[in-house]
Amino acid sequence: MCGIIGYVGSTGTDVTSILLEGLSRLEYRGYDSAGIAVLTTTGVMALHRRAGKISNLANAVSNGSRPDAGTVGIGHTRWATHGRPNDINAHPHPDCTGTLTVVHNGIIENYVELRQELKAAGHIFKSETDSEVLAHLIEQTYFGEAAHDLTAAVQLAIQRVKGSYSIAVISQEHPDVLVGARCAGPLIVGLGEHEQYLASDIPAILKHTRNIIILEEGDIVTLRPEGISITDLQGHPLDRQPHLIEWDAEAAEKGGYPHFVIKEINEQPDALRRALLGRIHNGQLNLSEMEHMQKAGLLENIQRIIVVACGTSFHAGLIAKYVIERWARIPVETITAAEFRYCDPIVGPETLCIAVTQSGETADTLVGIRQAREHGAPVIAVTNVVSSAITRLADAVLYLQAGPEIGVVATKTFVSSVSALYLLGLYLGQQRGHLTAEQISTYTQALDMLPEQIQRILDQASSANDSIEPLAKKMSQLSSIMFIGRGVGYPTALEGALKLKEISYIHAEGFPAGELKHGSIALLDNLTPLVAIATQSHVYEKVVSNMQEVRARDAHIIAVATEGDEGIKEHADDIMYVPATLEELSPLLASVPLQLFAYHVAVARGCNVDQPRNLAKSVTVE
Ligand code: F6R
Repeated sequence: MCGIIGYVGSTGTDVTSILLEGLSRLEYRGYDSAGIAVLTTTGVMALHRRAGKISNLANAVSNGSRPDAGTVGIGHTRWATHGRPNDINAHPHPDCTGTLTVVHNGIIENYVELRQELKAAGHIFKSETDSEVLAHLIEQTYFGEAAHDLTAAVQLAIQRVKGSYSIAVISQEHPDVLVGARCAGPLIVGLGEHEQYLASDIPAILKHTRNIIILEEGDIVTLRPEGISITDLQGHPLDRQPHLIEWDAEAAEKGGYPHFVIKEINEQPDALRRALLGRIHNGQLNLSEMEHMQKAGLLENIQRIIVVACGTSFHAGLIAKYVIERWARIPVETITAAEFRYCDPIVGPETLCIAVTQSGETADTLVGIRQAREHGAPVIAVTNVVSSAITRLADAVLYLQAGPEIGVVATKTFVSSVSALYLLGLYLGQQRGHLTAEQISTYTQALDMLPEQIQRILDQASSANDSIEPLAKKMSQLSSIMFIGRGVGYPTALEGALKLKEISYIHAEGFPAGELKHGSIALLDNLTPLVAIATQSHVYEKVVSNMQEVRARDAHIIAVATEGDEGIKEHADDIMYVPATLEELSPLLASVPLQLFAYHVAVARGCNVDQPRNLAKSVTVE
């Protein structure tokens, strides 16, 4: 959940700038506190830590105490799990002697017992974090069995640790060595000339190098200015090939927009094009990612499907339930990963599990899917992050190819996840013989039109006669807004409510439209508006009836409706129109004005839309 960065290079480098700049690109991973440790050319281990955002740390460092130039350093931005977000709990954590400092992303599950053991051996703990255990554990091995060999010390210490971690460690005694280790948290190495980098994510170091090695679970890496070496936990050498990263740092910048979120909303046509690229050709499907599973016969005996996901990805999974059942006639259950992992699920080789996780690192989804695999279930992963942890648990991976999403709330990755699930649904429908070539062609053509249709919604929203922003401003002082929908409109309503509440902090809830009258309608009054997903569908009339029931209670109604639907004006006070498409595909269009609505409400309320309070981009803890 946290972000880490490390640098090792030649004498006299402004390591502080490299670390601070890298951290600023990792802030989406957590922003409760930040810290750096730099080993200066004169051999001083300069340690600076501050609660709050990276700007607090940068200010503190610029106020006269900036570390001198050095050779090696590590940095961290924290999303708190164990211990409050204050200065003392901020990373890097030093050992007792001040020789070593450590940054950690993840959770040490056996930290209580390790802490007791280390305390009994005389180590003095200063913070409330689980991570500090690592500093003392490595200290123990470094001055003991490993005889001041930093890599060996990390190897030996890590063997005692249970849990998930990515770490970076430096020693005052080794100005030319940086050691990293990865287990169930992202960690990459950037290869430079006479300098090397370590980071949780590529944008943090892209300014310096495009040659990237993605470390695998269990890898330990030793970086020196002239090169790197990777081993497993036992010290056996490993060969990991670098990838050349082609997207530029600009792609991870705001590109002229005031916030990443609005930039990413506007990138959705392109993200969708990339998700469809090469997978649809002349009205036909080409899902080569599925070939392996197909050839291995893993899909032949599938009798049911379980989609496992959290949050926005869960909503994408709910949409998948409707369409896969309709197209492939296979029963689908969509379940939140945190429930799935503890419900002793009935799964086996006849149950296809689909993991939807844009980050590929969500702990609940990973554990749930690991369990399913242990029971023999075949797994398909839908993710945006190449080589993320989920990809190692999957028989097939559908990459979103959405590009980096820096805003903490999912927008373009939602649209891309849904489209990847559509392709999978069509593929399964074709395999099962439930969809004819003509039907596939109809759906793929409609899918192909979506990027252009989303672009129209966005163009309208940025034009002078846009109605979404004024409506959002009007609604921004309310304290509660309800969302309803039926069929695929129901997950669309859930996603609209989630987007609104997470970035504007206005209470919002989504319901199946027909369920409202069974209790929740009691919440509605003239200060609680209702957003109804009323695009053209086989349940359109039913949704309109539900809107009428609500209107009779004086609630203000906002409808998301299909262009050309003049009749809806009789039932709604405000309307957000979207282009016409096939019913199953309508969530991809209907969700766009809802994202824009949430964004403008949040901006009108002065909220931090890119980094909403209490949230983090990838939730790598239970
Ligand atoms: C909401 C949001 C979260 C994530 C959820 C799962 O905007 O982004 O609800 O969807 O934490 O994350 P992934 O998809 O990375 O598993």
